[in-house]
Amino acid sequence: MDETEDIGAADAFVFFGASGDLAQKKIFPALYRMVKRGALDIPVIGVASARRDLVQFRELARESIARTDTGIDDAAAMDRLLALMAYVGGDYSDRGTYESLRRALGGATRPAHYLAIPPSLFGTVIEELECNGLARGARVIVEKPFGRDLASARELNGILRSAFPESSIFLIDHYLGKEEIMNLLYFRFANSFLEPIWNRNYVSRVQITLAEQFGVQGRGAFYDATGCLRDVIENHLFQIVALLAMEPPAYQGMGAVQTEKFKVFRAMRPLTSADMVRGQFEGYRDEAGVAEDSDVETFCALRLHIDSWRWAGVPWYLRSGKALAATGTEVLVELKPPPQPLFTDSAPPDGFTNYLRFRIAPNPVIALAARVKRSGEEFVGTQRELSLLNAQPDQEQPYERLLGDALAGKGALFTREDAVEAAWAVVDPVLEAHGSAIPYPQGSWGPAAADALIEPGRWHNPGKGGPRPD
Ligand code: BG6
Repeated sequence: MDETEDIGAADAFVFFGASGDLAQKKIFPALYRMVKRGALDIPVIGVASARRDLVQFRELARESIARTDTGIDDAAAMDRLLALMAYVGGDYSDRGTYESLRRALGGATRPAHYLAIPPSLFGTVIEELECNGLARGARVIVEKPFGRDLASARELNGILRSAFPESSIFLIDHYLGKEEIMNLLYFRFANSFLEPIWNRNYVSRVQITLAEQFGVQGRGAFYDATGCLRDVIENHLFQIVALLAMEPPAYQGMGAVQTEKFKVFRAMRPLTSADMVRGQFEGYRDEAGVAEDSDVETFCALRLHIDSWRWAGVPWYLRSGKALAATGTEVLVELKPPPQPLFTDSAPPDGFTNYLRFRIAPNPVIALAARVKRSGEEFVGTQRELSLLNAQPDQEQPYERLLGDALAGKGALFTREDAVEAAWAVVDPVLEAHGSAIPYPQGSWGPAAADALIEPGRWHNPGKGGPRPD
């Protein structure tokens, strides 16, 4: 399923922000795994404002990879990666930096410029690439957040399009590189049994929770300028909604998938403050980089409506937070009860009717819950899950998959500019106009007001299994 314009393979990987947090946690490990698989053999040029040399840059890469779960388990691959690496240090607004970059690129004519830098620097870097002739024949890979509201997203798209054609722009949402997210698309459209029930006639409610037990992990300054809604909901969770809510693509091809996802964002009703609960974990304001009087939300719960033929009247509940009781990302598609309560337990005591549960992380699961009769005289039963475990050992990590695709010129797993803008249009009305963040204890499930938002339903908290059987 790939029909995007073929721009061919890149011949150098240039990576701005090469000493940052993302580089160390995700990018070096991804590059190492690619080299191990024999999927990367082009120059890797790190660009960063930090004054260091190539020896120190290589050491940073080695240390970052050594800290991962697998560590350095293939010394020859590690050496091969180090041999591919070059380093350009300098200010992003200094022309000299780009002259050094040109020299480092040598004869490369199709470089991939990856911007793992704060969005405030995108304009400067892209303009300098363009002025220095380094955008010609090149592609650009941009890390989220794509702007911080609709206006800045439009501006960013304008800047990108002034230097690169659409087919050479790769907007990374790393959720799209996760196997479990790709499986949402596959599971929906590779099976025929779902389609008849996948609509407002059978689905009562959809809820998605991305819970994290940890806090801001030293990213206080970034987080305080961003908040939960912008950090994970408007992008990662919206992408999940789009895959679950989209219409079947009209033809084979990822272009058709992108178009259907875009239509879902367009059909989402713009949020109002009554649809949103914001929370902040106690102690957040003591984090380094966080303002003493910060009102930034570390928890956010939303009620979303998709005004389409398929989903009219079905509420979608989205929730995410830091310093919560558990770490896990789950989707619950709750089905309506049978039309007549034939049995005494037709309204299950735990409130959960039949459902489909997709656990994205940890330990992916796809489960279908249905009621079965308990043996005995009475017609009473239990809800049980039919479970498909989806975990596959050694699957490609999201950044490995996405960087590999961008280098190969495959655009299918990236978001499209129009979709980015349509998603911002949904949240734009509540970015400024909203209630204050409600304090919640660390290790809880966020403020009680979030429970009221989903009533008469209940949140399913990601944990060991599905909602507790009655
Ligand atoms: C990132 C956010 O985009 O996604 C982080 O900036 C968040 O705050 C992370 O923790 C979650 O991603 P994953 O893959 O760990 O679920």
